[in-house]
Amino acid sequence: MAREKIVLAYSGGLDTSVAVKWINETYDMDVIAYTCDLGQGQDIHAIRDKALRTGAVDAIAEDARNLFIDYFVWPSLMAGALYEGKYPLATALGRPLIAQLMVRVAREHGATAVAHGCTGKGNDQVRFDVTFQTLAPDLKIVAPVREWKWTRTQELEYAAKHGIEVEATKKSIFSTDQNIWGRSIEAGILEDPWVAPPAETFQWTVDPKDAPDEPEEVEITFEQGRPTAWNGVEMDGIELIEAANKTAGKHGVGRIDHIENRLVGIKSREIYEAPGAVLLNEAHKELEFLTLSKESQRFKTHVSQTYADLIYNGLWFSQLHQDLMAFTVSNQQYVSGVVRMKLYKGGLIVVGRKSPHSLYRHELATYEEGDQYDATAAMGFIKIHGLGQTTQAKHQLLNTKGGGRPRLELPSIIPPDTAR
Ligand code: ARG
Repeated sequence: MAREKIVLAYSGGLDTSVAVKWINETYDMDVIAYTCDLGQGQDIHAIRDKALRTGAVDAIAEDARNLFIDYFVWPSLMAGALYEGKYPLATALGRPLIAQLMVRVAREHGATAVAHGCTGKGNDQVRFDVTFQTLAPDLKIVAPVREWKWTRTQELEYAAKHGIEVEATKKSIFSTDQNIWGRSIEAGILEDPWVAPPAETFQWTVDPKDAPDEPEEVEITFEQGRPTAWNGVEMDGIELIEAANKTAGKHGVGRIDHIENRLVGIKSREIYEAPGAVLLNEAHKELEFLTLSKESQRFKTHVSQTYADLIYNGLWFSQLHQDLMAFTVSNQQYVSGVVRMKLYKGGLIVVGRKSPHSLYRHELATYEEGDQYDATAAMGFIKIHGLGQTTQAKHQLLNTKGGGRPRLELPSIIPPDTAR
């Protein structure tokens, strides 16, 4: 009888290479390696070849960059999704797409299981597993690294015993993940939150002190919340994000140092490098200041936070997401225009913005000729606006009659130990 097949998310690194053999031995299954290009800057065809050399019966490599940008990156940008106000979510956005594409491959090949190389401590296992369970509840999930519980030395011994290629260059001292939207770097010396990340942490951004001595201005065009042109030149998503990564990185913009709250209850120290994401998020927010009503802007902060949490927590394929997406698309309908951003020595600042739908009205804002604002109407408005507070002050805050202010003792949330 033919062996059952399993689709493994294969990165070409040590863990997933060892996983190919380990699954063969432990589960007696044929491994189909799956690798996709999300803009991580690796040769996916070389990775595919390595999978076949390592013992996969089949290996698939495909370019998923456009899917990633159109369905994951742009929506998160439009939603203003930054986890805990800091992390642009590059890794978190990639997982549901990889998992979805693996499910497709599993169906095409009649596989009965899927596998990934995540540990049992992180968020990525959650994102993969929840997506598999949502889209293909019948598929068995295997997570070798979570299951084998080896030390690094034991893993290297296993690799040596089975003739698995271990990179000649010494393995990175960090654990990293990257795609076109950013790099995530953790572990090693970064586990001490007091220690500044050493120079080797960074690959896409220069140290701000080494950035050019001249500032640079860039113009980013948005249409209904999506970036469409860079310095007036229309570009597709890949080109535009690459231009943003390159320019912001050159000026040392996009380094993020985050003590983040993982879903699994751990606080972890993560360094992110996301020059393009930081620049585009900032520019996008500036255009919203110009084009969203005050009420929409206020309300959207809640949506942004919930959106970020659901991405981070692996709940991409949820109805709540569909609902928030509907809000976001509607909310972004007038977010079109151009933003001018200045980059200089690690700093990023808006210097100009314009939109055909601008709610900034010169005839209302000006102190000069042409003012159409009715200042006399302000007086009545102020009286009514403050009425609640002036009433309260008169009868409570400033009322000295009737014994003055009552004394307040706050109850404790902890009851006494004894019932007597
Ligand atoms: N903490 C980030 C997240 O949960 C990044 C994890 C990426 N993995 C890594 N090996 N650095 O999205």
